[in-house]
Amino acid sequence: MKKIRFFPLLLVFCFLCGCQSINNGKRIVRIAHSQSEAHPDHIGLLEFEKYVEDRLGDKFDVQIFPNELLGSSVRAIELTQTGAIDFVVCSTGNLETFDNIYSVFSIPYLFNSTSAYYKAMEDKEIREKLYPSTKSSGFQAVTWFDAGTRNFYTTMPISTPEDLKGLKLRVQQSPTNVSMVKAFGAAAAPMSFGEVYTAIQQGVIDGAENNELALTNNKHGEVAKYYIYDQHQMVPDMLIGNVRFLESLSEEEREIFYKASDIATEVERKAWLVEVERAKQEAEKMGVEFRKVDVERFKEKVLPLQKQLVEENEKLRPIYERIQEINKEEEND
Ligand code: GCU
Repeated sequence: MKKIRFFPLLLVFCFLCGCQSINNGKRIVRIAHSQSEAHPDHIGLLEFEKYVEDRLGDKFDVQIFPNELLGSSVRAIELTQTGAIDFVVCSTGNLETFDNIYSVFSIPYLFNSTSAYYKAMEDKEIREKLYPSTKSSGFQAVTWFDAGTRNFYTTMPISTPEDLKGLKLRVQQSPTNVSMVKAFGAAAAPMSFGEVYTAIQQGVIDGAENNELALTNNKHGEVAKYYIYDQHQMVPDMLIGNVRFLESLSEEEREIFYKASDIATEVERKAWLVEVERAKQEAEKMGVEFRKVDVERFKEKVLPLQKQLVEENEKLRPIYERIQEINKEEEND
């Protein structure tokens, strides 16, 4: 455990010493993420690694670090920002404190349908506004990964928004998520993903909110048996790269890295659809009860927050408005 904790520090130290990343004449490209090796994010990243190394294997050695091995998401984003590592896959929820443009995806009930979510994530206008916008913070988005729909799950049965009242629920380290959970009448406990299992098990929190894979891949279904489909958010994961690293690539290399990330997204999205179905079945076997609930009643509680969040942060408006257009386009389809 101690070794694992020290690893990020060691990386930073190596980076500062300038010995960070060359091994046998190859530039080591480090990618961190918080999921297990069975998770779609990891499956997508393996394709990224393969595509880059098949073409540039004499120059680059891509190394993937799963399971928060380089630290929690927030820590790994910091490492990517400084260039101690080159990429991280993280939720937009966790990016929010680094650049609040990412809080747009934490707006509850932002997307009216899964098809609107997919379309928005592939929308050229949104990508052009979002991806390079954080360059001054040292990182930029390269691609996105599907992370499904987020729902609440708890240690006690719940069905209505009133049932959330007074519960203590884990959220990502994101101010918007704290506001959302408060608007539902619950108390928010921001913490890293890796801490959630123990916090539920020890009764520090009453539950959390996430997609179904958290129940199985992260075993939360062992300790929280009630999962409701209130569908409050669709929050993507992003592949974030260090700006200096990306700009150090030749045009040809950059093209290969970008193509690799497109392929990673394609593979991750396919794997996502398969894995989420598998997770539901597996979670049921673990004794998790999935409940359909009256989504409109949950929506009512947090809709005022939508307006408030957009009014508070002008940066969000153009992306928010484009998403509203996409919501309409998909309704009429
Ligand atoms: C999802 C998401 C992760 C994120 C996690 C969380 O699993 O894919 O990127 O870290 O939620 O709630 O922290």
